[in-house]
Parts: sequence; structure tokens; C-alpha cells
Amino acid sequence: MSVLSVIGGQWGDEGKGKVVDLLARQVEVVARYQGGANAGHTVVADGKEFILHLIPTGILHPHVHCIIGSGVVVDPVALVDEIKQLREGGIQVGGNLVIGKRTHMIMPYHKVLDSHMEELLGVNRIGTTGRGIGPAYSDKAARLGIRVCDLYDEKVLADRVRVSLAIKKRLLAGISLDEEERRALEEDYILEVCDEVREILAPHVRNTDAEILEAITNNRRVLLEGAQGILLDLDMGTYPYVTSSNTGVGGALSGLGMPLGKVGAVVAVMKAYCTRVGQGPFPSELHGDEGERLRLGGGEFGATTGRPRRCGWFDAVAACHAVQVTGADALVVTKLDVLDNLDSIRICVGYEIGGKRITTFPAEATILERCIPVYEDFQGWKEPTAGVRNYGDLPVKAKEYLSHLGRLTGKPIWMISTGPDREDTIEVRNPFSVIEEGLG
Ligand code: IMP
Repeated sequence: MSVLSVIGGQWGDEGKGKVVDLLARQVEVVARYQGGANAGHTVVADGKEFILHLIPTGILHPHVHCIIGSGVVVDPVALVDEIKQLREGGIQVGGNLVIGKRTHMIMPYHKVLDSHMEELLGVNRIGTTGRGIGPAYSDKAARLGIRVCDLYDEKVLADRVRVSLAIKKRLLAGISLDEEERRALEEDYILEVCDEVREILAPHVRNTDAEILEAITNNRRVLLEGAQGILLDLDMGTYPYVTSSNTGVGGALSGLGMPLGKVGAVVAVMKAYCTRVGQGPFPSELHGDEGERLRLGGGEFGATTGRPRRCGWFDAVAACHAVQVTGADALVVTKLDVLDNLDSIRICVGYEIGGKRITTFPAEATILERCIPVYEDFQGWKEPTAGVRNYGDLPVKAKEYLSHLGRLTGKPIWMISTGPDREDTIEVRNPFSVIEEGLG
């Protein structure tokens, strides 16, 4: 049961990419189970920079078998571009990358719908990444989706595209579209896009559910790579300001066709503070100079859209909710070094609403928006932690801060990231050793 699930424990961008990249050295399989090209992380390997949106970072390790499971929504054009970018950078992409036959595809019209839905929502807009994620998952649920396997049956493909487009045209009737958007609603254009990617993707298309089962049955080490974060989960997040997939372990099971009970451990990756991109409640958000300081210190600009991320203090109420609904066994705390120069650091330990104190994470975005954070204050350590690789070398106050995160969430911290490089990491416990020795 050497399966480790790595989940975003906040609103995404927690640094999962670095954690997965680091642990990928120890595994044979990395599997992505949800989300699409809305995710993004920049990885530096051998001095070359790669921006990956769809392909698991495991691809940078030649021994790793990378799976894009059925729960992902794949933009085939973006995927072909990513494969090309990697190959141009000298990375081998062949049989080490497989894409599930059942995986749904993001078509150009999904992006048109995404942007116009946002426009129609006006002040209630979600602040999506504009990558067509919501409309593609909506089509999947409405049974109007186009799957990877449809690429290889031209009659099925043409029929499904025609039906899906007829409905989109009705939805968009009366909305003024530019030339490119009108083209995205033409059947011939969509089929042309499919023609362009069919042959390139063909060698990678497989029954990924069977591959996962085979890996588990043969006791291989498997890493389940989550995208976004649990607070953006369609069910457990700050609905409606969420993404359209299940970002937790449930999403991994359904999105990969995994048998129950095979996940050995779950780690929730959390920054030492919080960030969020897009709209939606964020009780511990810092406005003005303090927020700007974290944004600049942490380089908090989206890897997919370049948008500045909203920044704030670590929210232990949200973190406890995340731990509860992910079943996390431990935390991985990232970007500790971003707090190095602060005189004082706060952790949100409760909310006040209507004069009452609560410590549960409200389901209603409207209530969450009105919550006033209650903080515990800590002295900053004012010493560099950047690049520290041993727990013992951390300043005392940084260790105290980490132990408060552990106390407030009730979970041990297995790893701490102190900088962007793979090596800038403190491994308190190796997740696979813990799984293999038994969690207790
Ligand atoms: P969508 O996933 O593009 O539909 O966007 C829905 C919400 O999720 C928006 O608030 C996005 O900013 C947010 N989101 C989606 N992907 C990511 C990510 O990888 N990191 C952080 N936020 C994300």
C-alpha cells in the first residue's frame, strides 16, 4: 500500500509541484486525477525552466510513469504544446506519459463559455482562470462531453461535437462574439483541432484505470498528485467560489478508478501563510502594505494567469476544515522563509460573527465573508530560514511557529520547504517510510 496522496490544503498554489517533484525521485508512478490547465507550476530542472499545467512534474524524472487520469479535463492543444516544450528542453516524453481513454477534453468552445459566463455573472463572477474548466466539467455531468477515446472514432466524434455545439449556440445566442469566438463554435474548426492532436496523442492513450490497479497490485510506490486545493473543492470548498472538480482523496479515487482502501497516507500541503487567486471569501486576507509584503516576498503571482495572489495570515480554522475533509495524516508546510523578516506573525484561530466566536468553517460564502478573524500573535524570528535543510538549524521562534501550526491543526508536520530549490527542504519524516513502517 505504498500510495501517497498529496493534496493542496488551502486555496491552491501551496507549492504541491515542488513537493511532488521532490518525492517523485522515490516513486514509480505519479498520477494526476482532477483539474486541467488551470493548474500551473514552474519547475527548474538542469537550469531549464518548464511551466507545466497538465503533465505531472514526475515527467522530469525519466524513471517515473506519469498518468493523466480520467478525472482530469485535458485541453488537447495545451497538452500537445506541453509535450513539445518538454521535448525541446531535452526531456523524454514517450511511453512514460499516458492519458486515460475516458478523460474528457476541453474544447475551444468551453473557453468561450467560461469567459462569457463570467461576464454574465458580473459582480458575482468566480474569477476563473478562463481555461474552460467549469464548462468542460458541466458538459461531462450533462453527458455532452467529448472524451479522448472519441478522437479515435470519427463518426462518434463528429456526432458528439455537432450535438454539443448546437446546444452551445443556443446558450450563447444574443451574445456578441468576436471572430475567434465564432470560429470556436464551428463544427469544422473543432474537428480540425481534433485532427491536429489525434496522431500526436495516440501513443499515449491507454486504460489508465487498469494501469493504476496494476501498479497497486504490484506494490509500486504511487504518488497521487492533486491540483488546486481543498478550499476550492466543488463540495467542500467555499462554494460557489470553487473550481469544478473534487480536489481531495475522493477525487483521486473516482478520477483514477482506484480501489478503496489503497491510499497509505494523505499529506496536505499548506503555506506558512495563505493565498487565494480569484474571487471568494478569505477571512485572514491582508490588504495594503502587509499583504503586498507577503506578495512580493513570496512571489505570489499566478503561474497560469500571472494574476497577483491575494495574501493573508495562516488560517487555522480553514486548515482544520481541510484536515477534516481530506483525512490528512500530516502537513507539509511550504514557504516558511517568506516570513523570515517579519517582526510579528499572526495565525487566525477563530472567527467572530455577529458578536459570537466560532471555530468551525462556515458552509455559506456569505457568512464567511462577514467573519472577522481572531488572531494569536507570535514574535517573528527575524533570521534567515531560506535554504535550511535540517530541522535543528531552524531558529527557535520558527520552530515554535511550526509547532503552533501542528498544535492548532492537530497534525504532525512531515516536511518543511524553505526555498524554491528541490534541496531547500527539511524532511522531518519521509512519507513513504512512514507508510511502509505503518502510520502508528
Ligand atoms: P477555474 O478552475 O478556472 O474554473 O477557476 C475557479 C477558481 O479556482 C478561481 O478562483 C481560480 O482562481 C481558482 N483556481 C483554479 N485553478 C487554480 C490553481 O491552480 N491555483 C489557484 N487557484 C486556482
